[in-house]
Amino acid sequence: MVKNNLALQFSINIAVFYLFCLAVGCTPETSNFDQDGALAANDPHSYANIDEVVVDHISLHFEVDFDAKVLRGTARLDIIQLSHTTQLILDTKMLQVSDIFLDNGDRVKFSFGKENRVFGTPLLIPILPTTKSVTVHYTTSPMSEALQWLDASQTLGKEYPFLFSQSQAILARTWVPCQDSPGVKFTYDATIQTKPNLLALMSAKNGTQKNADGLYTFKMKQPISSYLLALVVGDLSFSSTGRNSGVYAEPAMLDKAMWELTSMQSMIDSAEVLYGPYAWEQYDVVVLPPSFPFGGMENPRLTFATPTIIAGDRSLVSLIAHELAHSWSGNLVTNETWNDFWLNEGFTVYFEQRIMEKLFGKEYEEMLTKLGMGDLKTTLAELKSDGKEDDTHLYLNLAGRDPDDGLTDVAYEKGRFFLQTIEALVGRQRFDAFLKKYFNDNKFKTMSTKRFILYLNDNLLTQDEQVQIQVNKWIYGPGLPNNAPNPHSIELDRVEGVIAKYDNNRITAKSIDTTGYSTHHFLYFLRGLKNLNATRMKELDEAFGFTQTGNSEIACDWFKHAIKQEYKEAFPAMKVFLTSVGRRKFLTPLYSGLAETPENLKWAREVYAEARPTYHFVAYNAVDKILE
Ligand code: BES
Ligand code: ZN
Repeated sequence: MVKNNLALQFSINIAVFYLFCLAVGCTPETSNFDQDGALAANDPHSYANIDEVVVDHISLHFEVDFDAKVLRGTARLDIIQLSHTTQLILDTKMLQVSDIFLDNGDRVKFSFGKENRVFGTPLLIPILPTTKSVTVHYTTSPMSEALQWLDASQTLGKEYPFLFSQSQAILARTWVPCQDSPGVKFTYDATIQTKPNLLALMSAKNGTQKNADGLYTFKMKQPISSYLLALVVGDLSFSSTGRNSGVYAEPAMLDKAMWELTSMQSMIDSAEVLYGPYAWEQYDVVVLPPSFPFGGMENPRLTFATPTIIAGDRSLVSLIAHELAHSWSGNLVTNETWNDFWLNEGFTVYFEQRIMEKLFGKEYEEMLTKLGMGDLKTTLAELKSDGKEDDTHLYLNLAGRDPDDGLTDVAYEKGRFFLQTIEALVGRQRFDAFLKKYFNDNKFKTMSTKRFILYLNDNLLTQDEQVQIQVNKWIYGPGLPNNAPNPHSIELDRVEGVIAKYDNNRITAKSIDTTGYSTHHFLYFLRGLKNLNATRMKELDEAFGFTQTGNSEIACDWFKHAIKQEYKEAFPAMKVFLTSVGRRKFLTPLYSGLAETPENLKWAREVYAEARPTYHFVAYNAVDKILE
């Protein structure tokens, strides 16, 4: 009877699954029912059989071919077998594999599973019980989604081509065959052959000088997850910013970048005081060309940064505090799957906030925090009205979806405010001691949401405090629980008064006294304005010159208004912005706003036709969906 019930339940499950597939339009090849390379039960975004065998070291050897726009070479993966298995399943996407050898010299008959548009193609490699390593000979595709190959015209110097990678979240598989799950950590080394006059850098121990033969070797002795594999090749120079930090940039950018980032060494020193020793020895930042699709990416030892943070007034350096903080939250203690993404980003925003407070004072930090709450409330409202309330939980269920879907302010800001709520209840002293211990106890390991809650209850919260915090509501529930903080900022309260007066026509734009306004005051001002029209836009523009601002954050907020209010005077500058900056966070709201009227959509498509070839995959993949 029990057996029959189980069998019945099983067929119902299968039927429901297929109905679900019909409804959402996916094919069963993405399911966990596939024998030859199913998405793993423990990580829904990887095909790797990490419960049976794990990679603990990767050795890369390849040449960078700028003409063919490919990497060509080998990856040797050293493995540890956890249970008896006859195959190693790796994640790949668009890789051309020519040969695979085992460590005993055997050339093996490998095969590929079914291709999936998002997750790629599992590579099935037969192994022996004694196999300790496999070597894959392969070439990447010119369409590799991690890699952007830039012509010299897209660089500042206009003389040399440029290449950079972006592996997070699941794009490492488009340039390295690997177990592309954040739950697996490995060390790596690499030899990269590029052209003379170009410097190659990785998320590893780097040199600071170009060499004549263009051959570079790298070692990463601390274990990292695949999403932290990174490579950049270009005309780059280095300058030190202190004891264990420095900046790489194109020569024409280096001085400006150095000036902007002078606080880097103090950031590192403050971070160490807060949560323990920096585990990666050196911390450098490489300033990339403007097509870099993110603000920053925390590649170990070498943060990748957008040049849009080099604003000329040091107003956007909190981004560096953020990427540096990932050296603890994320790179040292890593989210086990992308469903646990808030453990990376929420902790990092909290940590960033603490670094900023220490370096620039409480008032400055309060402005950033209040702006963060504003962003979060906007995002929560949007997700709710789109019927995506599940995506407002801290713990996400992204199975079957591109993990990029989880990349919202929820992980960042709701995560930060959750930690701030705990801090407020237990006090800063206890919370800091807890965090320091958390990073130390879990260094070079991974963390799941479930295990974090256990750790939190075991190491910090009393039973009474657990009830007061409402941990489950925060993590598994929608929106903001009622004990969320309400951030105040003396500085921004001042701006609030100005907004109210301007919205009520009690003052003119010209009479607003902006003495002492920073970028953050202006951002808060722009985000708060409700009563706008094209005439008032013109008036604001005449008073503050927003259309011509060199500050990308202000420009983006201003252009959003320009689109809504049909303030066409700003459109030529917006076109310049859209065709020169490839940062996705700026592109998606602008193109989405433009897509709302037929006339603007037509204009946006024309601009995009020009801009698309200059964007990284991560950016054009998002914009394609908006403008299709
Ligand atoms: N790790 C993220 C970037 C990321 C997340 C890339 C998920 C791909 C998938 C990075 O640390 C980040 O959060 N960057 C932000 C800046 C930060 C100050 C909020 C960005 O790029 O805007
Ligand atoms: Zn981050």
